[in-house]
Order: sequence, then C-alpha cells, then structure tokens
Amino acid sequence: MVEHGAGATAPALGAEVYGLIPFLRDGAAAEYVGVPAGILAAKPARPDHRSAAAVPPAALTVWQALVDHAHPEPSRHALVHGGAGGVGSFAVQIATALGTRATATASARDAQFVAGPRRPGRHRLRRRPVRGPGGRMDVVLDTVGGDTQTRSWAVLRPGGVLVGIVAPPDPSTARDPAARGVFFVVEPDRDGLDAVSELIASGRLLPQVDRVVPLAQTRAAYEALEKEHRRGKVVIQVADG
Ligand SMILES: NC(=O)c1ccc[n+]([C@@H]2O[C@H](COP(=O)([O-])OP(=O)(O)OC[C@H]3O[C@@H](n4cnc5c(N)ncnc54)[C@H](OP(=O)(O)O)[C@@H]3O)[C@@H](O)[C@H]2O)c1
Repeated sequence: MVEHGAGATAPALGAEVYGLIPFLRDGAAAEYVGVPAGILAAKPARPDHRSAAAVPPAALTVWQALVDHAHPEPSRHALVHGGAGGVGSFAVQIATALGTRATATASARDAQFVAGPRRPGRHRLRRRPVRGPGGRMDVVLDTVGGDTQTRSWAVLRPGGVLVGIVAPPDPSTARDPAARGVFFVVEPDRDGLDAVSELIASGRLLPQVDRVVPLAQTRAAYEALEKEHRRGKVVIQVADG
C-alpha cells in the first residue's frame, strides 16, 4: 500500500496487502493500481508475493462457491471438476480444510498432481469415472462446463447443489427438482480473503503456481492459456521483488 485516497486510513501505508482487483476494467494488470481500501486484506507472511498473487482470484472463487453459494447446506462431500486447474487446485484444498471430503476429476496426466504429496490433507487416487445416477455429492463445483456440467446433476444427492463458474447450470437438465444450480462471478471480498489467509498461515492451503510471467508478456501469457497445459495458476509479475 503506497498511498491512501481521501478518507481511507486502513490498511496502513507500507503494509503488505493483497486482494482481488476489480478485473473488468482497464488497467487491472498494472504496476500501480487504485482500488477501494475495503477489498484489501493483509498478505500472509508466506508465501512470497509471486505465489500470493495467485490466491485472491482462485481462492475467493472457491470460498464464495463453497461457503456463500453452496450453503446453507452443510457439505460432507464435494466433487471438483478440473481439480488440477487454477481454481480446482485451490478447491480441493479448501474443501478439505473446511472438513468436506473432496473428490476431483482431472486428466490422467494430472492425477499425481491433484493427489500429490505436497498437498495438505489426505488423498487417495482412483482411476475410475464419476458416474450417476444415484449420486452422493452434496456439492459439485464445476470449473469445466459443457457436458461435464450437464452430467453433474446425476452425481448429486437429492437436494444437492451444482455450482458452475463457467456457465449457469440449466435446471431443465436436472432430474431432481429439489437440486439447486448456482452460477456466480467472483467478487472482491476482504472477509473471505482473511479466512483464506488463515488457511494458508496454518499450512492447510498451499497456492499452486504453474508459472510466473513478466508483465511485458501478459498478452502472450493470456494467449498461451488457450493452448498450453498447466497445473495451478499463471501469475503475472508486475515488478521486481
Ligand atoms: N465465475 C467466476 O467467478 C470464475 C472465476 C474464475 C474462473 N472462472 C472460469 O472457470 C474456468 C476454470 O478456470 P481455471 O483458471 O481453473 O482454468 P484452468 O486452469 O484452465 O483449469 C481448468 C482445468 O480443467 C481441466 N479439465 C478440462 N476438461 C476437463 C474434464 N472434462 N474433466 C476434468 N477436468 C477437465 C483442465 O485440464 P487440461 O489442461 O488437461 O484440459 C484444467 O486442469 C474458466 O473458464 C474461467 O474463466 C470463472
């Protein structure tokens, strides 16, 4: 934090902060950016800035999906589609940290990454498809969309919740009228980020960074997202340090 706007006093100048920058406006990826002070949270002492930069968009998406949108139903078992991805790699860990059993789908080449030893929590690897009907999942967090999303209704327990972040789930494709479909777009959220920071500080959440790209290569990095395989988040580094 290098400067306060009129009336703002917190966070303190010089404090290390992080947050989800309102990303639908020009200048969101810049070395200096003005944001409402209320959306910033204290950055945990660890990890470093590069890994911490991966946290707000992915972890807040997961937090808002599991805590704000999937509730008030208590989740005993969540299925995460795309468990090796930028969002999914946080989802498996956060669900586990919240006391929810997490099952994930991923490409075979990513299986060890999703279940790997560097992941907090206990994980078992099974190479079998997730099938319905007659499902047991309280929640499905779908980061993939398309057919994967449509087929997800079948693995929900009666009255379960399908949270889509790629596209709104179509309720006409649900067999159970009590099942709920939710779509949302992640929002800046200091309280959610404070909760996530606690998970990081306690070792229950380890941000997964695939690669760090200099600001000057931002365009190429976005283009590569369409083509190249990755595990975890891609971070744009705006300044040295
Ligand atoms: N609504 C919101 O607020 C919000 C917030 C964040 C992100 N999003 C959206 O959510 C989506 C995911 O974001 P992300 O950053 O996590 O993307 P990502 O890093 O590309 O992750 C997607 C993951 O899904 C895997 N995948 C693809 N098809 C699959 C399938 N059929 N079964 C299982 N896994 C499959 C991919 O594996 P492969 O690489 O092997 O294909 C990849 O690991 C994007 O569309 C993004 O725009 C929405």
